[in-house]
Amino acid sequence: MTTRSAATPVVRGLPVVGSALRMAKDPARFFVDCYREHGPVFRVNVLGREQAVIAGAEAAEFLGTKEGRESLRSWEFWSGLVDEYGATRTISGEDGPAHKELRDIMRRGYSREAIADRLDEVVAITDRNIDRTWRPGATVPVLRSMQALVTDQLGELLTGMSRPEYVHDIRLATIYILNVLVTRQRPRLMLRDPRYRRAKQRVAELSRKMIEDRNRAAADAPPAILIDDLLRANRENPAAMPDQDLMISVTGPYVAGLDTVANTIASFVYAVLKHPAVLARVRAEADALFAKGSITEKDLRGIPAIRGALMETMRLYPIAVVQMRTATRDFTFEGHRIAAGETVYVGTSVPHFLEEFYPDPMRFDIDRYEKPRAEHLQAGAYSPYGRGQHVCLGKTLADVQMLVTMARMFHRLDMRLPSPDYVLARKTTPTPGPAMSFRVRVDGHRHP
Ligand code: HEM
Repeated sequence: MTTRSAATPVVRGLPVVGSALRMAKDPARFFVDCYREHGPVFRVNVLGREQAVIAGAEAAEFLGTKEGRESLRSWEFWSGLVDEYGATRTISGEDGPAHKELRDIMRRGYSREAIADRLDEVVAITDRNIDRTWRPGATVPVLRSMQALVTDQLGELLTGMSRPEYVHDIRLATIYILNVLVTRQRPRLMLRDPRYRRAKQRVAELSRKMIEDRNRAAADAPPAILIDDLLRANRENPAAMPDQDLMISVTGPYVAGLDTVANTIASFVYAVLKHPAVLARVRAEADALFAKGSITEKDLRGIPAIRGALMETMRLYPIAVVQMRTATRDFTFEGHRIAAGETVYVGTSVPHFLEEFYPDPMRFDIDRYEKPRAEHLQAGAYSPYGRGQHVCLGKTLADVQMLVTMARMFHRLDMRLPSPDYVLARKTTPTPGPAMSFRVRVDGHRHP
């Protein structure tokens, strides 16, 4: 039994389900409302399980402190995935030295180095997808098309080969992994679903192919730093990267990058089309960026409106609303005691919606990030990529990928929302973002 501080407020919920429905409907808003009502520490009841929540700027900062690192761990949330795939560990589920060892193996593969010299390839893959799907007159399902595009990009950049035929399986397996094994919002029974069993088999097949292809690749094949580094670690230090961990490690870019990037850029499309003044600035910058043909990483420093629109999208449409952890020991946060073994949600996105940090917080204002305002630089205010030792390893790569992709799409496409007063239909599982039903119309190609 957990010992609890008498003063820690418990969020009122419905019988049996507790706060599950409110949380599922709009998680970002739920945690902000609770924070406003109860302060930085409270407990929520979800389907009969009580979890502690620490939220706000101090909670975000806490993740990066020594005390935070020693008081919280990730293992419990990822152990289901590790067992299901017969692995021994995963980067997301480890902490301390074992986690550092895995991050060191994967750092180069997920770094900016994996994308910096390949921006023209990112553009070419984006063009290929535009020409295939975003034709003049088409009404395009945005999220599905972004998932295909991102799989194409991640496949080529990180694994050396595009794998479009596996998009469906990767997505389906990821949905089950996140819903059943990681966040445990759905019962384990669902893992018996034949559709999941098949997707899991196909993902296993994909990882075998990725390894075989890489081992057979010609010397002049496109680089695939991540896979090469994983295979080298497997050969030279099998204790750190044993055979049975290769599968979840080589398919990691898809689990970590596919839905996160696809949902974020789908939200970007909505937010920019919704704000005509922003759209005009984004287009002008994108046109100037591609006017000279080939682009370099340095050119991305000169697109403040597109960067501001991306940062504002990630503030208002965060894909990781909370970070999920377990308390490794008793500790006190903001005067409240959390007991060893308690599930702890760290509400790092709560400050994104607070007036104290972002005046008129619901306004899509792309100029917040430029100096002297630089609102995101206030301590704990901005954490779209998480915080502390598990902070997104692919964040620089993701930033570059999203900036180039959005710049290219807004340079080439004249898109329109279903109507000017259209309000985005949203879903929350497995990743918060636009609903599958969100479509835009392609009025034409601005630049063929
Ligand atoms: C919009 C884009 C993205 C967002 C918002 C995002 C967000 C996050 C967050 C919040 C975490 C930390 C989770 C936690 O603390 O429990 C994380 C971890 C991670 N992300 Fe991302 N991510 C994005 C894209 C990517 C991409 C494209 C890749 C690579 C292809 C990637 C690779 C990783 C990896 C490997 C981790 C695990 C790091 C660790 O546990 O040490 N992410 N990401």
